[in-house]
Amino acid sequence: PAPGWSITADVVVVGSGVAGLTAALRCAAAGRRTVVVTKARLDDGSTRWAQGGIAAALGDGDTPEQHLADTLVAGAGLCDEEAVRALVTEGPDAVHRLIAAGARFDTAHGSDEIALTREGGHHRNRIAHAGGDATGAEISRALVAAVRSAGLRTIENALVLDLLTDAEGRTAGVTLHVMGEGQHDGVGAVHAPAVVLATGGMGQVFSATTNPPVSTGDGVALALRAGAEVSDLEFVQFHPTVLYLGPEAEGQQPLISEAVRGEGAHLVDADGTRFMVGQHELAELAPRDIVAKAILRRSLEQGVEHMYLDARHFGAQMWERRFPTILAACRAHGIDPVTEPIPVAPAAHYASGGVRTDLSGRTTVPGLYACGEVACTGVHGANRLASNSLLEGLVFAERIAADIAADGPAVPASTPVETRAPLPLLQPEAHVAVQRIMTAGAGVLRSAASLARAAEDLDRLHQEAVEAASDPTPASVKAPEPGVEAWEATNLLCVGRVLVAAARQREETRGCHWREDHPDRDDASWRRHFRITLGADRT
Ligand code: SIN
Repeated sequence: PAPGWSITADVVVVGSGVAGLTAALRCAAAGRRTVVVTKARLDDGSTRWAQGGIAAALGDGDTPEQHLADTLVAGAGLCDEEAVRALVTEGPDAVHRLIAAGARFDTAHGSDEIALTREGGHHRNRIAHAGGDATGAEISRALVAAVRSAGLRTIENALVLDLLTDAEGRTAGVTLHVMGEGQHDGVGAVHAPAVVLATGGMGQVFSATTNPPVSTGDGVALALRAGAEVSDLEFVQFHPTVLYLGPEAEGQQPLISEAVRGEGAHLVDADGTRFMVGQHELAELAPRDIVAKAILRRSLEQGVEHMYLDARHFGAQMWERRFPTILAACRAHGIDPVTEPIPVAPAAHYASGGVRTDLSGRTTVPGLYACGEVACTGVHGANRLASNSLLEGLVFAERIAADIAADGPAVPASTPVETRAPLPLLQPEAHVAVQRIMTAGAGVLRSAASLARAAEDLDRLHQEAVEAASDPTPASVKAPEPGVEAWEATNLLCVGRVLVAAARQREETRGCHWREDHPDRDDASWRRHFRITLGADRT
């Protein structure tokens, strides 16, 4: 649809989690006219839900080198070491800058020192946390307050649609669909030579996820449609310990942070036996792909749907002080972790891949940047190390802002153009079909047959949308009204199809990509990345 209104800026940041708001604050501080657009309210993204914390070599005796080593091991041979080095060396100062911006982290009893805990795959205590298990909420609070006090221009309830480019193919802004924001309502455009995608993840492509409803892969879908390269989409991390609410549970599910295991909780099977001991030197604190697989294997062996996390020995006081959010979520679902083990199963949690960037956050489209979960900077490889995501958002957002402040992308030479044909939109309710197809065929356990079925089913949905768009007359297929839900369903289908294509190609098991029919890691053939761009017809 043609934009009905437009505004102009130097930089438009799309998304308002740790990555987006950090980039926006830095760009504004460098004197760039910056506009933040975000799909719901400023604090509605995944950052607010992050529990465990933010990893950085802040403790006595810890070093960036040790953090680097743990990150590379978790990444299973596919991390970009230079990107990881940037993350771990710049991480500690970035956390201190976040504190200076107003974020308050928990301190060790009776001192000013930041309290550090441990999570899966870390050999040291290096996870800083806030409010016990409400780290993301505190970071979000501090950054939103900073954005407000800096007077940054923000547009909420704004779903980004497509990238605008100039005649030379350089970024010239974005189109948006905005609901209920007064003068900027309906479809409009922000014209800017730099666009920073910080739209978060795509967990909603699966039926059960820890991600909030807004995580529908919009940034990856936009980037694909704009001709940008995406990488590593097959590596979807399934968090091992998500509160199990029954086989029919759909949408966002309560996370039981790794930090609960970091503080000594045990994973036990249906017989009460600790099954991680002897499977990995770190037992319950093995990297999360290993724990997720062990949970699924033992569940299959025992013919049950879930395992248990037993932290009764923490006692009521520790539960209330250290994990108030998780305690409340469990109790809201009728489970009291103080007196009973928590039923847990893996659920989709984090996209390790995304829009490919260089070390300055530049994508393959001039002027288009990406940071946070939407990006593939190379730091996560085949499996993100716990609590590296908030840190990645911080560090790479700062790098993007530095790049823009240094010289910035050239101002588009000509009027922005949108030459692309309108998208064949999905019916809003089709998102459920996409989620079920993805969960059945491309979930935690994959095979050539399951992925082929998923590809076929997703192609059928796409074909129906194409037919409805080209001929809306038959009574059985009606072209949907353009609107946020139809666009979200369309984005989910777009990223789902690319994810399945990547997962079909990777005929090995590595990191969080688990192929039943190719159970081994195969470095000789597959120690490489699948980089994908859409064809001119955007399929
Ligand atoms: C958690 O608290 O377990 C989640 C941390 C993360 O995903 O990095």
